[in-house]
Amino acid sequence: MQQEYKFNYTIYNNLEELTAEDKQLVIAARDNTKNAFAPYSKFNVSAVAKMKSGNIYKATNQENASFPVGICAERALLSVISSYAPNEEIETLVVSYDNKNGKSNHPISPCGMCRQALVEYEGRTAGYKVIMTGQEGEIIILENAKSLLPFSFSSDDMK
Ligand code: THU
Repeated sequence: MQQEYKFNYTIYNNLEELTAEDKQLVIAARDNTKNAFAPYSKFNVSAVAKMKSGNIYKATNQENASFPVGICAERALLSVISSYAPNEEIETLVVSYDNKNGKSNHPISPCGMCRQALVEYEGRTAGYKVIMTGQEGEIIILENAKSLLPFSFSSDDMK
């Protein structure tokens, strides 16, 4: 039996096509890349979440001389939210970057490990919109995090 997996996403040409709220959040995420600690890759990543409460939380990638010790911005952000606001629900999560060695003009999507974390967090709380953007150029908006990772592993698999 053949199955098909489909999900919806929207591509926007630039900031001006977004709602005022999303635009503000994207600007904040782009700006927050300056707080990354990425002396090794020079690839500054920022993740910013607007909660249903209206609160905003921010994080960045944090690298280490022992490379695997570094953590991506998205998982750093989920740790911040789960620690500071465990009862708040994410409404929108933005991922942006500033590539100090090259261009930052197209959206990046979270790495595989972060997708697993983002999907599980969505299941713990509620669905949230994911916005992917560089410093300029097209912006992609997904309706939820789970579309990023079909066949994700979950606690249900361990029952
Ligand atoms: N990085 C993130 O923070 N998020 C991603 O989704 C992709 C990669 C970081 C990890 C590392 O510090 C740098 O970007 C280059 O891989």
